Amino acid sequence: MPRHFLRDDDLTPAEQREVLELAMAFREDRYVRTPLAGPRGVAILFDKPTLRTQVSFATGVAELGGFPLVVDGRLAQVGVRESVADVTRVLDRQVAAIVWRTFGQERIEEMAAVSRVPVVNALTDQFHPCQVLADLLTVAQHRGGVSALATQRLAYVGDAANNMAASYLLGGATAGMHVAVAGPAGYLPDDAVVERATAIAASTGGSVAVTTDAAAAVAGADVVATDTWVSMGDEDEADERDAPFRPYQVDDALLAGAAPDAVFLHCLPAYRGKEVTAEVIDGPRSVVWDEAENRLHAQKALLTWLLEAR
Ligand code: NVA
Repeated sequence: MPRHFLRDDDLTPAEQREVLELAMAFREDRYVRTPLAGPRGVAILFDKPTLRTQVSFATGVAELGGFPLVVDGRLAQVGVRESVADVTRVLDRQVAAIVWRTFGQERIEEMAAVSRVPVVNALTDQFHPCQVLADLLTVAQHRGGVSALATQRLAYVGDAANNMAASYLLGGATAGMHVAVAGPAGYLPDDAVVERATAIAASTGGSVAVTTDAAAAVAGADVVATDTWVSMGDEDEADERDAPFRPYQVDDALLAGAAPDAVFLHCLPAYRGKEVTAEVIDGPRSVVWDEAENRLHAQKALLTWLLEAR
């Protein structure tokens, strides 16, 4: 059975460290490994909009020696024109791995259940684990390496019910970090995710906290992160979300409560004046362009690791 990466806790703490160390090696030398030489194909499907994910996976597969096949979900119509299982059986006869951005997590789980090649979650409504791998790499880059990740205090402020919040909880706990997420009542993480992250943190020396108090979450944090208040699929709620989310904007005043050398993360796209001010995202603490670049290195490492795993 192949290994898949559908959610952050599909990698154990030791496995996550291996992937991140390999990602550091790719940061140093983009061609240090070429496991897709041949070239072998990787199918990259999108049911939702994309910029960073398409570019980083396509570039990454090419740099690994492979051939990226980007499939527009509007043409493939997975689950409409034919079933998830039938699409998977067609793809896995031809490609070395499948990368999919889609809606419900159950769709990618259905794919992984029948796929004979690794399946990678490139964002679902529930999780965005490739982004959090890149974020962990970015923290490692700015804090002296992968071994420095454990004990880092990460605060995520904003839509705490979305895919990024869930992935920070699981991925951060796996890395042994102290993860605090803050959002308005009604926009807090799923209980099952919090319970799972808490159990992981108990084994890694990390911790997990959920609060409606943004300042409390950010107090002393080494890393402060946010994300759009209106995720893909939530567009109809854009107006009603504005008022409850206003107190969760990451501005200089909120960031003043973090550690003096705190770094700021945002998965992008960013909406200046909404979840973050221009002063913060364009300011000296922001490492968002390193973070965007690190999608490339982290995903190359992930694909390499999955292709070699048994
Ligand atoms: N939470 C956002 C992340 C975008 C990369 C969304 O799902 O739209």
